[in-house]
Amino acid sequence: MSLHLSRRLDAVAPSATLAMNSRALKLREQGHKVYAFAVGEPDFPTPRFITEAAYQAALKGATRYTPVSGTPAVRKAVCEATAKHRGWQPTPDMVTVSAGAKAALFNLAMALYEPGDEVIIPAPYWVSYPEQVRMVGATPVLVETREEDSWQLNPADLAAALGPKTKAIVLCTPSNPTGGAYTEARLKELAEVLRGHDCWVIVDEIYGDLTYDGFVHRSLAVVAPDLRDRLVVVDGVSKTFAMTGWRIGWTIAPPRLAKALDTIQGQSTSNAAAIAQAAAEAALLGPRDELEAMRQAFDRRRRRMVEGLNRLPGVRCRMPEGAFYAFADFRGVLGKRHGELRIDTDDQLAMYLLDQAHAVTVGGGAFGAPGYLRLSYAVSDDDIDQGLAAIGEALARLT
Ligand SMILES: Cc1ncc(COP(=O)(O)O)c(C=O)c1O
Repeated sequence: MSLHLSRRLDAVAPSATLAMNSRALKLREQGHKVYAFAVGEPDFPTPRFITEAAYQAALKGATRYTPVSGTPAVRKAVCEATAKHRGWQPTPDMVTVSAGAKAALFNLAMALYEPGDEVIIPAPYWVSYPEQVRMVGATPVLVETREEDSWQLNPADLAAALGPKTKAIVLCTPSNPTGGAYTEARLKELAEVLRGHDCWVIVDEIYGDLTYDGFVHRSLAVVAPDLRDRLVVVDGVSKTFAMTGWRIGWTIAPPRLAKALDTIQGQSTSNAAAIAQAAAEAALLGPRDELEAMRQAFDRRRRRMVEGLNRLPGVRCRMPEGAFYAFADFRGVLGKRHGELRIDTDDQLAMYLLDQAHAVTVGGGAFGAPGYLRLSYAVSDDDIDQGLAAIGEALARLT
């Protein structure tokens, strides 16, 4: 067949985990226990009161189109939750509710970036940031961060990366994949650099409620309110409320941009599912005791995972401040062999660990950090213990 696909796809990498996932599926079908350390979602069910609210809303008629950017009620709920839990008060005309934060970010890419534009993305980064930039023909500018700096963008590195073509910068705090989070002091320093340059500032706060050891998540909107006229907050219910399947995320943006996002969403997906919007409204306004229980479970598993990783010879892992990922340095085991097989890259190591330990991990190269592996600790304590033991045995077989 000679029909061409769009050239847009030439620049876009497919999901790095696809080959791994199909291999993992095969192992499962063969009856093996597989340790799912690649997952990006809580293993808890959505709190019952949220599902009940959705059910009641559906019975009451939340089964039709809603306004493109979300019902007035859910947009108001986003504003109330932002005021209560993030410390600043947006207005509903700033809120665009989408089918997940990923769709919200894609709307932003459509609304903001053109060929020739550069978008600064600190590395390690969440895989979709650069790919979405490429999809619309713009250029991601990847700026390295350092583990010993909690993976925070350095102000001098930001200053060096900013240029006349810079259209936006995308920060993620706490970060997927590193779990690193920005301190108020660092945000202040970055804001100072950004004041000298006219570009959009996008902050993905989807893991903002998942921080540990007393680390306080701070919003740039609070730390540098003068930047609000070009600040976009990306957030959603997926991670905090264990609602990945409901597909609700949003942007909080200056009204002019929010209007543009409404136009783009109006000609693409239109509104996010009405029932899911009702669920998100209940989640945002409801009690948070179940969330706190989930957060505490993640906290416990975080220690278990990171301490377990650090016991493996050749592996090093820093204790992350937030999210639910351990980002471990496996460079100490690269270059080794298993019989004929030589393991030189993180992807080869991830495949080896899948085959030998039945543990699914994600190679750091996909996130711009070769030699690392990302392991999600949104899995049971037993899976962490047994999976790490299996990884340890597989590593011990390398020479
Ligand atoms: C940093 C980050 N942002 C956004 C998303 C998208 O979340 P969703 O589309 O489920 O709202 C994810 C999901 O993995 C993420 O890790």
